[in-house]
Amino acid sequence: MQDMDRIVEEARAVFAATDDPDALEQAKARYLGKSGRITELLKGLGALPPEQKRTAGAVINQAKAMVEAALAERREAIKQTELSARLAEEALDVTLPGRGEAQGGLHPVTRTLERIERLFASIGFAVADGPEIETDFYNFTALNTPADHPARSMHDTFYLLDERGSLAQGVLLRTHTSPIQARYMQAHVAKYAGQESMPEIRIIAPGRVYRVDSDATHSPMFHQVEGLWVGENVSFADLKGVIADFLRRFFETDDLEVRFRPSFFPFTEPSAEIDVAFMRETQKGRWLEIAGCGMVHPNVLTHAGIDPEKYTGFAFGFGPDRLAMLRYGVNDLRLFFEGDLRFLRQFV
Ligand code: FA5
Ligand code: MG
Repeated sequence: MQDMDRIVEEARAVFAATDDPDALEQAKARYLGKSGRITELLKGLGALPPEQKRTAGAVINQAKAMVEAALAERREAIKQTELSARLAEEALDVTLPGRGEAQGGLHPVTRTLERIERLFASIGFAVADGPEIETDFYNFTALNTPADHPARSMHDTFYLLDERGSLAQGVLLRTHTSPIQARYMQAHVAKYAGQESMPEIRIIAPGRVYRVDSDATHSPMFHQVEGLWVGENVSFADLKGVIADFLRRFFETDDLEVRFRPSFFPFTEPSAEIDVAFMRETQKGRWLEIAGCGMVHPNVLTHAGIDPEKYTGFAFGFGPDRLAMLRYGVNDLRLFFEGDLRFLRQFV
């Protein structure tokens, strides 16, 4: 049975010479496969007389076990080699200096909105919210804006299409944050229904709004901050006081040039627009409209279920993008929304 020793030696040598798992499996087939050498020998046992069969069988099986052991050992060795190679390749040098993290910052308009919220919170205004996809009922009708009002024109407003591509009836991108006035008043009235009187309403509502507009002071998507204060004896003097105080604190100066210019909104009466003079030397003499405002129209109060004989209120709608423009001395408002990092980094 020297033959067997030779076969085992040879198998060991062949296994040792392979260093890739596929080649090893092929080498295995040569000894232990269906027509491998050891398998053939085992098949040949049947032809031997019983005595020889037992001894020869024992020897062949022992050889088979040795070849299997050699195979297992080689498999493990190949696996270890591959693992070490991978570990070496993916090694991290933890002593290298860090690459540094790019630091993000808040968008200048976000900073402005947060600043406005803080200032109004300090005089008791809560923050309210409403949907950007609005119904024309809340965007217009509830705000005393009749169906033939020019603000409803296709030229001013983004209307939505339904799944068949036709105009979706009664749905649009809100053109201002004023619908939140109507929504909030309605909800407030419902909350205190049946009670003798209701608590004051004192909210601001920041958010995105949309119009078919685009030039240096108009962007198709921009922001507004609505304000609403409804209670007993709220007057236009209160409106002027709140706004003047806010602007002084927002711009951190007492000699801001501000003017209230008589104007018209269907949902306020009387109404005004608020202009601020540009502060830069080079822009002196130019005014920028920053807000619309006025006393809430009795029809709007009535529509929400509030008795205009008992309650009065004022409302305003600021353009915070324009406030940011003035505060940072930016001459084209669209720069805020182009996403150019060279521009935006200046405000971090
Ligand atoms: C309104 O939208 C009224 N809802 C404001 C209001 C609220 C009046 C409550 C009375 C009571 P107006 O269209 O003027 O009004 O817009 C208000 C402010 O939004 C403007 O003063 C301006 O600062 C800003 N604004 C308007 N259009 C744009 C635009 N396309 N891009 C950037 N800012 C704009
Ligand atoms: Mg205006």
